[in-house]
Amino acid sequence: MTATAMRTHRAGALRAEHIGAQVRLGGWIHRRRDLGGLIFLDLRDRDGIVQVSVGPDWTPSDVIESVLEVTTESVILVRGKVVGRPQEARNPEMATGDVEVHADAIQVVGPAHLEALPIPVWRTKGEDPPSEELRLLHRHLDLRRPELQRNLALRHRLLQRTRATLTDLDFYEVETPILTKPTPEGARDYLVPSRVHRGQFYALPQSPQLYKQLLMVAGFDRYFQVARCFRDEDLRADRQPEFTQIDLEASFVSPEDVYGVLETLFVALWEEAGFAVSAPFRRLPFDEAMERYGTDKPDLRFGLELEDVSELVRGFRAFEQILSEGGRVRGIRVPGGAVLTRKDVDALTELARHAGLGGLATLKHQDGKLSGPLSKIDGMSAGAARLEDGDLLVATAGPDSLTSVVLDRVRRAVIARLALVPTQEHGFAWVYDFPLFEWDRESQSWLVAHHPFTAPHPDDVERLLQGDRSAVRALHYDLVYNGHELGSGSIRITDSEVQLLVLDLLGISQQEAERRFGFLLRALRAGAPPHGGFAVGFDRVVMLLAGADNLRDVIAFPKTTAARALFEDAPTELDPAELSELALKVDNA
Ligand code: AMO
Repeated sequence: MTATAMRTHRAGALRAEHIGAQVRLGGWIHRRRDLGGLIFLDLRDRDGIVQVSVGPDWTPSDVIESVLEVTTESVILVRGKVVGRPQEARNPEMATGDVEVHADAIQVVGPAHLEALPIPVWRTKGEDPPSEELRLLHRHLDLRRPELQRNLALRHRLLQRTRATLTDLDFYEVETPILTKPTPEGARDYLVPSRVHRGQFYALPQSPQLYKQLLMVAGFDRYFQVARCFRDEDLRADRQPEFTQIDLEASFVSPEDVYGVLETLFVALWEEAGFAVSAPFRRLPFDEAMERYGTDKPDLRFGLELEDVSELVRGFRAFEQILSEGGRVRGIRVPGGAVLTRKDVDALTELARHAGLGGLATLKHQDGKLSGPLSKIDGMSAGAARLEDGDLLVATAGPDSLTSVVLDRVRRAVIARLALVPTQEHGFAWVYDFPLFEWDRESQSWLVAHHPFTAPHPDDVERLLQGDRSAVRALHYDLVYNGHELGSGSIRITDSEVQLLVLDLLGISQQEAERRFGFLLRALRAGAPPHGGFAVGFDRVVMLLAGADNLRDVIAFPKTTAARALFEDAPTELDPAELSELALKVDNA
């Protein structure tokens, strides 16, 4: 019900069916046009925009007088009659474009002062937006833009659909604490000093991981939460320090059961946004993803798979040493890639050099001729290289760990540069069988690939028990979509001894494990059901479904890439009295 004592309809909801109705509306003046005797006010509210016309034939002269000076973005109440627009004045681009409102009374209830409008809400098509900094500083104005209103409306619908779908699947929504203890998810914690317990700190949750496991031990069987997570990490367009997960966990499940729940959820969410997708989604083992695409989050809308071309390029000087040491040469055949210019190829080569490889070598087949460095190889032919006229092969040599990184980037750059047409619209896949541990070159130590509560693959437990970290797979899975990671999850460790062993292999002694994770270990010893779960990066899902290219466009009050809240101006300094109450001293050095 949108009618109130002040208004009968939302402005943006008026349609041809309302013609003849007397209405009262309330909203913002989006734009005004004065055509001599006639004034058009575009009135905007949450549902959209309707044209209000003020004219001497239907508007009393004192009312006309009262709107002569009113500024855009002022809030007005309008009383009037809905009339059909003449054919030639209809606007098919506006949902309300068949009608307008002939105003007979207008009251300015919230005047907008020009100095309070540093950024415009209405802009002409194609006009550059104000800088993002200005937009975030004046977020209440920026949020008035129809585009952001639409994004947040979609976010709301997706959230309600999530709740309904998971409730149908027998999940309970349970809230878990925000003031908590550090949960390792690979980022730094945001810490909150305790006033009562001087010198002690809470951590804001990086995720509700441990709480959801405790809920399984407590017998809740299926849990979900719209969970706010906090991570102090380097930000990018698809990361915020504070973000929302659809977090869930279930007992007595295998990975396939978890996939089934999420497939039902994702089909519903995509449908809510107007897209038909079908489950089951593709399944792709981690090793295969790395071999064929060079990444664990491939964009599966395109072919362009990586291939081992070591045999084809034998005899090419620059690759010889790597091949003789047992290394591989991997490459991508790019159909239609011969149109790439030297400058394009130089840019791709730079990607390879930057990653620490010698460079890229190419083979071009154009107008029946082969060119590029690889064409010099004795006996090279288009047939041997399987290149049609117009195709290009790019190849590079080195350890797989580097060639994967480079060829993934090359693949994405080529897709973008050639504006390739996707073979499908929605490339969902489950990537599974990830390694449990990763060797970190920087710290020269083994790190856990995801979080340390992930169960090892049952076939690899023997290796784990022998302390061999290199080839242990995890019961971990990610959901990828068009090159984005939408979420991740795993089956968890439920044996406290295995949990201690994994922590030990990460260099966490039993004593430290009891101190940091004692509450989890105690729970696992108290009768723990097999369980597993998943967390969806909800902001990312909304961003993709809204067609936005930035998380900030789907979050009402986001932080900047420097993790600042510009609108409310946070973080801020504390005064000495506040610091001393918290037993804190700030070292400004
Ligand atoms: P993970 O750390 O992979 O898993 O997070 C799950 C998903 O959350 C999203 N995400 C983010 N979105 C915006 N800004 C960020 N800074 C950010 N960081 C992560 C991603 C990611 O895939 N507890 C585990 C889940 C589990 O095992 O059940 C977890 O948090 O889309």
